[in-house]
Amino acid sequence: MNNEWLLQLFRNHPGEYVSGALMSQQLNVSRTAIWKQIKKLEGAGYEFEASTKLGYRLLKEPDQIDSNSLTKALTSNRFGRNIICFEEVKSTQDLARSLAEDGALEGTLVIAEKQNGGRGRMGRGWVSPQGKGIWMSMVMRPSVPIHCAPQLTLLTAVALCRSLKRITNLPIGIKWPNDLLIDGKKISGILLESAAEDERLKYIIAGIGVSVNLLESDYPEELFSRATSLRIAGGQAFNRTAIIAEFLKDWEQLYDLFQQEGFQPILALWESLSVSIGKTVKLITPQGELVGVPVGLEESGAIRIKREDGSIVAIFSAEMGEPLGEN
Ligand code: BTN
Repeated sequence: MNNEWLLQLFRNHPGEYVSGALMSQQLNVSRTAIWKQIKKLEGAGYEFEASTKLGYRLLKEPDQIDSNSLTKALTSNRFGRNIICFEEVKSTQDLARSLAEDGALEGTLVIAEKQNGGRGRMGRGWVSPQGKGIWMSMVMRPSVPIHCAPQLTLLTAVALCRSLKRITNLPIGIKWPNDLLIDGKKISGILLESAAEDERLKYIIAGIGVSVNLLESDYPEELFSRATSLRIAGGQAFNRTAIIAEFLKDWEQLYDLFQQEGFQPILALWESLSVSIGKTVKLITPQGELVGVPVGLEESGAIRIKREDGSIVAIFSAEMGEPLGEN
């Protein structure tokens, strides 16, 4: 017997007891088989209340991301329309990349409950504990030249920021280029890795990490002063499936807008969500350190920095430090 049918039966009777007789009649199996499945579900984190007279009542489902429930929650047309969920992987980036190499369609999404070798920008690791966050990578096949890849990173940050703000009501902002912060602490990171051929993008693997329900104890000590989760900041747990569905819808809409109208409308949205603009910051660039005030984005995705002598410089790649003060 497939667990999904049994679960569906409980979901059709929310908060109500479902009798053993009804279950075995509807699913055409013995009561012993039902009991065994319920024990299995309990082992997987489902909670039931049993009554000798009334049967079983589903009390709680585990917060698991499964492709069926996610597919049902989706309102996007292409993004996430092919979902592959894993329990534990090294990095969802690697799996999505090999799917892309094998010709996976744009929107193919790899999700893991846990990563044991999650990657961040600049060769750093990414803390991805079991069931606590959104660790996923999507295959994108944009028909734009390779120099537009940074624009897609910024676009992804805008979509994620807008959808997370809507769902959580938390004061989330974007630090250039694509970190999402609450009160200066990071809650999400985006890693775009691309493969190109003759100056054209073959595909992009967009990796999204959102620290949804992590507790303080889930972070290594050295990270805790710089990182937080939606749960810590919001004082409540959030449903990961709902967040993914909301984000994929926003992401696809912005992506379509970008393909039709270019980067300008995205640039304006990014600037309105930025927590970097107007604050003096230190930037560590491949050419050395620089102190200045971010004043806006360039069409290319570079950040425009006003230096102390009033000159403006465009920075394409750097690590931006904490604000040193308001301007
Ligand atoms: C950053 O440094 O801010 C980027 C972090 C990106 C993390 C995500 S989690 C899903 C995907 N798989 C990875 O190994 N990394 C990205």
